[in-house]
Amino acid sequence: MADRELIDYYRARAAEYEQIYYRHVPERRREIDEQAEDLRELVRGKDILDLACGTGYWTQRMARTASFIAAADISAEMLREARKKEYDTPTAFVMADLYSLPFRAASFDMITLGFWFSHQPKQEYDLFFRQLAQPLKDDGLIWMIDNNPLAEGSQLNSVRTDVYGNNYKRRYLQTGEEYVILKNHFSEDQLKEIFAPYFTIRRLVFRTYYWSILLVK
Ligand SMILES: C[S@@+](CC[C@H](N)C(=O)[O-])C[C@H]1O[C@@H](n2cnc3c(N)ncnc32)[C@H](O)[C@@H]1O
Repeated sequence: MADRELIDYYRARAAEYEQIYYRHVPERRREIDEQAEDLRELVRGKDILDLACGTGYWTQRMARTASFIAAADISAEMLREARKKEYDTPTAFVMADLYSLPFRAASFDMITLGFWFSHQPKQEYDLFFRQLAQPLKDDGLIWMIDNNPLAEGSQLNSVRTDVYGNNYKRRYLQTGEEYVILKNHFSEDQLKEIFAPYFTIRRLVFRTYYWSILLVK
């Protein structure tokens, strides 16, 4: 189910969100660029659904080679930022909740989710994975990227843990405004355990700052 605090946080953060991609840590930069290069090849010629697309950072990179992209997010503020970019392939922006997607069954070759899975409540994995499978063609692919703890720097500490084992962390906007949002981290083994019952894991890249996974429906 959509998480109000998380949505409000990202709405308020939309204009400053992309700064996370431009912090001056060379290894971090290298990892992100390698992931982007990899993704560009994966999406070549495909119809893509980019869920929780945010400001369109990954959307824009995929647009270099993808055939078509539907980029969906629940936040009008994020979509406004995303629309400011130029895209090399037809790209449609859709305001949508990823728990009730408005797309026809089996209409996409691949779904991408950048930095979403760490916000996904553990008790709703089942519901979430079923939602993902619906708009995807048979043998369709799912790609996710997310961060390991090192990428969070000073924002690492958990404020609390709930009964399902979800962690909650403090986040501050540039104005100083504080939010507490659900943010989970995973080991490589935990990721395998979570996804293997639902999908075939084609590839798992687990690096210092980021992990990414490629799943087959
Ligand atoms: C960490 S940002 C990721 C943005 C982008 N994918 C990226 O990698 O840069 C998470 C995004 O999820 C969106 N979001 C939060 N709850 C959502 C929901 N229930 N349905 C769709 N999008 C949601 C937020 O508005 C935000 O843009």
